[in-house]
Amino acid sequence: MSHDTILSVENLSVGYARKGLALDDVSLTVPRGGIVALLGANGAGKTTLIRAISGLLDHHHGRIESGQVRFDGRVVNALPPHKRIRLGMAQSPEGRLIFKNLTVEDNLLVGAAILPSAKRQDGLDAVYALFPRLKERRGQSAGWMSGGEQQMLALGRALIGRPQLLLVDELSLGLAPLLVRSIYEELKKVRELFGSSMLIVEQNAKLALGFAEQAYVLDRGRIALSGFAADVAASTAIRDSYLGTERVGNEGAHA
Ligand SMILES: Nc1ncnc2c1ncn2[C@@H]1O[C@H](COP(=O)(O)OP(=O)(O)OP(=O)(O)O)[C@@H](O)[C@H]1O
Ligand SMILES: [Mg+2]
Repeated sequence: MSHDTILSVENLSVGYARKGLALDDVSLTVPRGGIVALLGANGAGKTTLIRAISGLLDHHHGRIESGQVRFDGRVVNALPPHKRIRLGMAQSPEGRLIFKNLTVEDNLLVGAAILPSAKRQDGLDAVYALFPRLKERRGQSAGWMSGGEQQMLALGRALIGRPQLLLVDELSLGLAPLLVRSIYEELKKVRELFGSSMLIVEQNAKLALGFAEQAYVLDRGRIALSGFAADVAASTAIRDSYLGTERVGNEGAHA
C-alpha cells in the first residue's frame, strides 16, 4: 500500500450469523485527501463495509471471514472502534448515538474528548464556523433539534477531532435536498481545512458522483464497478441501476 493511500480494504469477506456472506472479496482504496463514493442498491452491503472499516461489525454479530482493512499502513481488523477513532477515523452520522439530554455543545465535546484539552475550544470554533446553526443552538438539548440539525451535530462531532478519514453513511437520509447540498459544500471546506479523506455512502448517486472523485458500486456484496466518478456516472450500468431498480443494461454490473 502506498503512503498516498489512507485506507485500503483488501479482499474482504464478511458474514453475519445465520446468513451467507454480506461482502464477498471486496477491495477498495481511499487516497489520502481523496473523496470516494460507495454506491449500491438497498442490501448491497454498503453499511456492512462501513462497519468493517470502523470496527462496529462485532456489535452487529458480523465478522470478517477473510481479507483485511488497512488504515494508514496498519492492519486494523482486530482493533476496537475507539482505538480506530484515536488513529484518526471518524464515522457520521450516528444519529442514535447523539445524547438527546445533553446540550449541543456537550455532544460536540464528547467528540472532542480525543483532543488535548487546550485544543478543544479550537475544535468547537472550527465546527461552529462550519455549522453556524449549531452555534446558535449550542445551549439547547440535542433532543430538541430537528432531524437535519441532529445530522449536522453528528457530523460536527465526527469532525471535531479533525479525522484523517471521515466515513459517512447516508448523510441525506431524511434531509431536504437543499440542506444535503449545503452540507456537501461544507464537507469540501472540511477537506480544505483539515485535509480529511472521505468515504461517502449516499443513496443519491447523482449527488455523490458529483461530489466524489472516485466511486465504487456494490452489487449483492461484490464490487460491480469502480473508477473515476465521472466514468462511473457515464456508464450505462449505473444509469440504469443506481436507484436499485431492475437492471436493463449489461455493462459490467453483473456478478
Ligand atoms: N446485523 C445483521 N445481521 C444479519 N444480516 C445483516 C445484518 N446487517 C445487515 N445484514 C444483511 O447484510 C446485507 C447487507 O446489508 P447492509 O446493511 O450492509 O446493506 P446496505 O447496502 O447498507 O443497504 P441500505 O441501502 O438499505 O442501507 C443485507 O442482506 C442485510 O440483510
Ligand atoms: Mg445501509
